[in-house]
Amino acid sequence: MPGPWPITADRDADGVLTIGGVPVTELARDHGTPLWVVDEADLRERCRRYREGFAGVDVAYASKAWCTVGVLQIVDEEGLYVDVASGGELHTALIAGVAAERIVMHGNNKSRTELVEAVDAGVGRIVVDSFVELERLEAVASERSTRATVWLRVTPGIDAHTHEYVRTGHDDAKFGFTLSLGLADEAARLAADLPHIDLVGVHAHIGSQIFGTDPFIANTEVMLDLLARWRDELGITLTEVNLGGGMGIRYTHEDHPVEVARYGRAVLETVDERCEALGLPRPRLMVEPGRAIVGPSTVTLYEVGTVKPLTGLTTWVSVDGGMSDNIRPALYDAEHEVTLAGRSSAASPQAVTVVGKHCESGDLVREHVPLPSDLAVGDLIAVAATGAYTASMASNYNRLPRPAAVLVRDGVVRPLVRREGYDDLTRHDVSLR
Ligand SMILES: Cc1ncc(COP(=O)(O)O)c(C=O)c1O
Repeated sequence: MPGPWPITADRDADGVLTIGGVPVTELARDHGTPLWVVDEADLRERCRRYREGFAGVDVAYASKAWCTVGVLQIVDEEGLYVDVASGGELHTALIAGVAAERIVMHGNNKSRTELVEAVDAGVGRIVVDSFVELERLEAVASERSTRATVWLRVTPGIDAHTHEYVRTGHDDAKFGFTLSLGLADEAARLAADLPHIDLVGVHAHIGSQIFGTDPFIANTEVMLDLLARWRDELGITLTEVNLGGGMGIRYTHEDHPVEVARYGRAVLETVDERCEALGLPRPRLMVEPGRAIVGPSTVTLYEVGTVKPLTGLTTWVSVDGGMSDNIRPALYDAEHEVTLAGRSSAASPQAVTVVGKHCESGDLVREHVPLPSDLAVGDLIAVAATGAYTASMASNYNRLPRPAAVLVRDGVVRPLVRREGYDDLTRHDVSLR
């Protein structure tokens, strides 16, 4: 199978999709649909490939991709640091048992409360995103008579050619200190003078779902040049560089992302060459992939609820989830591979449009996708590469309870996230009667 499917994905003798050795028919029967099925072997393997491909570099998992206790425990066991971008993600990481010093705290608008939580927990690094935050953090650290260890988030002026909503490194971005406007220099000078801020490095994340190594190489060069220039012009010596995440993954057979090993080699060669040219000692480096760690590990199982063929027009296939468990098609026009999962079929393929059950025409699973022409109500379909930015962006739109997630490995199924029920939907509602 693999392509965009997890590494253990296979078909059994009856043509039923299996993940981690478990037929999806069994998973749907025992755990219901929609269901996120996480291939544990795949998830662990991607952590390992990252650590091998980036030997000598710290790898942090960007938990925004999927922040749930079990996933964080697995990446922690595989030796990854954890990047969090809110108090809630920080709380989840701490509950998961991740050591605070292995947590990196992000966010372009961290509240005072979130900064207090980060400082009190003792997170390893706080990535400061703005002048306001620098002052806020100085105050929080000062009140506690401590020093916060900080990276500055730099906006490096690199336009990664990816979807507009996931570009973050271009000058006019909402994140960080824009280098070309002199803001990063100003922030470095200010931070270096603040008594409760210990400025040790810089961070730049240029975007997400990036194919090719060039933007990452450019980012590496810009960051190292910056370190050398600050050393020479500002007298500020920094020893740490976080190059962000952003590596693209395969959602369909048409996607051809770079292998981690190639990406790692390209970055590390750039680091060596540039450091030598600039007379810089090699800094401590970190990368922080999210999507590339958890995305390919997971498939979503849905059951077909209705099939509506419109003569000469579209055949609409509705499933029992949709934009509440995967907003990506609606938000980014994203395409995920879809397959008939619960049986084999010899019927010829027919282009259909798979949609969710929400009251929005944009509630797409996949448009014009070839599925067997005998696709029928009750069939199970699987959607590939749904581990990243699906569960973490899930909602209760139309008051759909959020799905369960299970972890499968070597024929064993373990719950990862419990399915919500109607009680969960009204738990926070306050009755006026
Ligand atoms: C600061 C930061 N680091 C890392 C990531 C992870 O990106 P990806 O999931 O594309 O690897 C993001 C994603 O938006 C981010 O904002």
